[in-house]
Amino acid sequence: MQKLSLNFPEYLKNDELKRWVTEVAELAQPKSVYFCDGSEEEYARLCNEMVASGMMKRLNPEKRPNSFLACSDPSDVARVEDRTFICTQQKQDAGPTNHWMDPTEMKEIFKKLFKGCMRGRTLYVIPFCMGPLGSRISQIGVELSDSPYVVANMKIMTRMGRKVLDVLQNGSFVHCLHSVGSPLTDDQIAGRARDHHWPCNETKYISHFPEENTIISFGSGYGGNALLGKKCFALRIASWMGKTEGWLAEHMLILGAESPEGKKTYVAAAFPSACGKTNFAMMIPPTELSRWKITTVGDDIAWIKPGEDGKFYAINPEAGYFGVATGTSLKTNPNAIATIAHDTIFTNVGLTEDGDVWWEGLTDEPPARLIDWQGHLWTPEDGKRGKPAAHPNSRFTAPAKNCPSRDDDWENPKGVPISAFIFGGRRATTVPLVTETQSWEHGVYWAATIGSETTAAAVGEVGQVRRDPFAMLPFCGYHMADYFDHWIKMAAKVKNPPKIFGVNWFRKDAQGKFMWPGFSDNVRVLSWIIGRVEGKAGAHKTAIGLTPSYRDIDWTGLPTMTEEKFAQVSRVDPKEWSKELSLQDELFDKLADRMPARMLEMKAELRKSINAL
Ligand code: OXD
Ligand code: MN
Repeated sequence: MQKLSLNFPEYLKNDELKRWVTEVAELAQPKSVYFCDGSEEEYARLCNEMVASGMMKRLNPEKRPNSFLACSDPSDVARVEDRTFICTQQKQDAGPTNHWMDPTEMKEIFKKLFKGCMRGRTLYVIPFCMGPLGSRISQIGVELSDSPYVVANMKIMTRMGRKVLDVLQNGSFVHCLHSVGSPLTDDQIAGRARDHHWPCNETKYISHFPEENTIISFGSGYGGNALLGKKCFALRIASWMGKTEGWLAEHMLILGAESPEGKKTYVAAAFPSACGKTNFAMMIPPTELSRWKITTVGDDIAWIKPGEDGKFYAINPEAGYFGVATGTSLKTNPNAIATIAHDTIFTNVGLTEDGDVWWEGLTDEPPARLIDWQGHLWTPEDGKRGKPAAHPNSRFTAPAKNCPSRDDDWENPKGVPISAFIFGGRRATTVPLVTETQSWEHGVYWAATIGSETTAAAVGEVGQVRRDPFAMLPFCGYHMADYFDHWIKMAAKVKNPPKIFGVNWFRKDAQGKFMWPGFSDNVRVLSWIIGRVEGKAGAHKTAIGLTPSYRDIDWTGLPTMTEEKFAQVSRVDPKEWSKELSLQDELFDKLADRMPARMLEMKAELRKSINAL
């Protein structure tokens, strides 16, 4: 076995990191080990190297300064939930909604897969901090990866580089090991053959060892499979940490809403993947309600801790947006369009003839010709034949500091105080536009039972309704019923737990058309929610909670939302709800071994009020 001589930077003070890097390098046999310093120069150099190797294309600097396009292998386009494992000592601790494998067995598999898997490549050591450096809510991790694309994305998505090691010193950190699993051949090493533009491996494992603060990912270079700070650390490992230490790691956006009177309220909202979290977090109110101002703290993940003043404080652990490009436009999200105008990495979108990017929904009229995400010439005719220019899960990676709506406190290490939680699903039927739950426990029950039609963010069939408790089904690092119990108990950690609301922007009429305009008009619902938090807005009781009457919402500038239409979008139909409750049985049965009794009582109460309708 080739022995690498490792030169550790003189500023590296962490003995465990030195030991671990040595161990991984000896096993994976990279040609070199590089410690990322996180500088702009380093980012520019790596991007140039990727352009030279064919992994990325530089976009036209006049149209899209300092921006790049990467296109993945068609087999590596989304998170792979069926290859995602929670490896706890006891199977029951991972729970029935996670794939489980014994940690020792899983490590044996990795030992074989990692042997020589980085041959000919550089092993990058990527120290990163989730959350502002020095915040009591933040956490440090180190990712070892053989992908320069991962380094560039981690530079945007996290606080990354030497400054993190300076804070870490000899402290403990989350171990995040990643390989695309594609060692170079002799010919590739000798320069007689080119490397694949998107190296990856058919065999994929995304494995979490929450009892050891460790993540090991093999075979994929895409998104949440490879940028290990995001879903793997900030949700799966952090949710376990939160349960153990008394805090919350959630799949939630955080936004600030400033009222016409100048009062700022922060809310955190959970929606399943690709249900418009980024759009909601960056919303610009319609002209008639422009005295409301929305500011963005985060678009995907919230870490929430009880503060000394008895309130929940939340940070966005990320430093950038890894948003879904498809469907993002000036109409759906003008702030995102401004955010990605420069300094952005695009993945799996179309490349226009003038060196810019395009995806379905960006403009009404598609360009006459472009190169699609798979590198083929594309015309609108292809689009009509169902062949999109961009993959439905195409992405942009952009720094949060680029976002015009960023909140002044988006990097405040203290976090921002949360006044309400909002839970939404993508439901064509049954679930009304907005519902206020009647207590913390009722809210937990509501959040636990949200369902959603599946989207392209994960591999699998699109459009099926699946229960997605708290929008955390693919991201909870332990038994989902224990997670409900943790949420129930968290109420006691604060003075007045925030109110919990349910929303559904996606209800359809009998003709299959969306009834709610969505996007900027969502501020109408948000302002009602804030009115309820402040005890100002009206509401009436229904069988499932509290809801606004038509007069309780400001409809200025939206004459199409008539009282009749509003009644339709807010309707609680006893037949639909009776069916809904039966559908919830599947989740309750699955989690029966640890389901908190309070949840069963809440369900029985709801059944009673539905039956009484
Ligand atoms: C995401 C997801 O990428 O939820 O944010 O899948
Ligand atoms: Mn997400």
